[in-house]
Amino acid sequence: MSGNQKSARIQEVESRFNELFGHPPTILVRAPGRVNLIGEHTDYNDGFVFPAAIEREVLMAASLRSDDEIRTYALNFNQPSNFSLKDIQPAQEGRERWSNYIRAMASILQSEQVPLRGINLAVLGDVPLGSGLSSSAAMLVAAGLAFTASTETTIDPVKRALLAQRAEREFVGVNVGIMDMFISALGQANHALLIDTRSLEFEAVPMPATGVSIVIADTNKKRGLVDSEYNQRRAQCEDAVTILKNVLPDIRALRDVSLEDFERFGSLLPEIVRKRARHVITEDVRTLESVEALKRGYITRFGILMNESHESLRNDYEVSCSELDSLVEAARSVDGVYGSRMTGAGFGGCTVSLVADEAVESFRETVPNLFKTATGLNAKITITTAAPGAERLL
Ligand code: GLA
Repeated sequence: MSGNQKSARIQEVESRFNELFGHPPTILVRAPGRVNLIGEHTDYNDGFVFPAAIEREVLMAASLRSDDEIRTYALNFNQPSNFSLKDIQPAQEGRERWSNYIRAMASILQSEQVPLRGINLAVLGDVPLGSGLSSSAAMLVAAGLAFTASTETTIDPVKRALLAQRAEREFVGVNVGIMDMFISALGQANHALLIDTRSLEFEAVPMPATGVSIVIADTNKKRGLVDSEYNQRRAQCEDAVTILKNVLPDIRALRDVSLEDFERFGSLLPEIVRKRARHVITEDVRTLESVEALKRGYITRFGILMNESHESLRNDYEVSCSELDSLVEAARSVDGVYGSRMTGAGFGGCTVSLVADEAVESFRETVPNLFKTATGLNAKITITTAAPGAERLL
């Protein structure tokens, strides 16, 4: 996104806020969506992930009220939703469901004894919904920032991410890992973060300044089964740990199982559970190796590991789908594509590819056509750099 487009969006949220509430906002925050470069379905196994924040974000403009009311308005849907801090209930009405992220965050902050005050809040986002780019994490993190800004409370960004994760788990009901909120809260411009999801230590690794672009392609297939399948994968990983503990008593999560251990003891696991565990264990190894490769400038190697990650997600973890596979195949047919894989939870949503700068145009021209022929769907291509994490702008 160019600087101009960005300030146009800021102007839009500020002027619409003014129209809605009759005065300019005193608080403005942003929180980005994310793309995961590698390390998929490892975060709830205490493993490693390597996401970047993207140039798609949720903006929230706010002002203080003198009561306990939260007056919110989604500019994308032209839809208000109001509630009181004294009694926060999830919105049942379909049109107001988006406000549950704001309600969830308010409720979690209150349960943490963070003092909240009533606010007016206008929301404007351009993270595509249901595409696996973490629009929900961006909503939660932005709401957390807006609420704490309104009472001048400071919360450390790691804690902010953990509270957002709790909000999604408790209110939205999907037992997600920490990756999406963490990168939305802590992302850094031009860097991807290698996150150890057990210790929550992280390392910002520079993306190449020139020569290679991050290209996101959206299948436009909304992720249907994702919630139930996601929770089922988690349970299968836990089953694997329970069984392997009989021979490896010190393990706490699949992150603790080495490839050697797995080769020795994997046969103890039922076939499906074995496949799930194999994905997670090999994905952790690929993630750490890919980060080393990137640091040394070995983009070709990074791309190969991305491709292997996709194969493992498709064959062992079984979270891909024919649309994602077609899009990955179309991307890989373009000269100058280093690697391409599904990103996020799977079952639809987006792929991520690393593409030589000079091949980006031909990617844009070729991939949607090939994909359309294979699936009848229109792919949407987005080029992004790694963006900064959430921040208060006003
Ligand atoms: C979703 C979850 C994340 C992570 C990914 C898969 O995006 O929110 O925590 O588990 O799926 O890597």
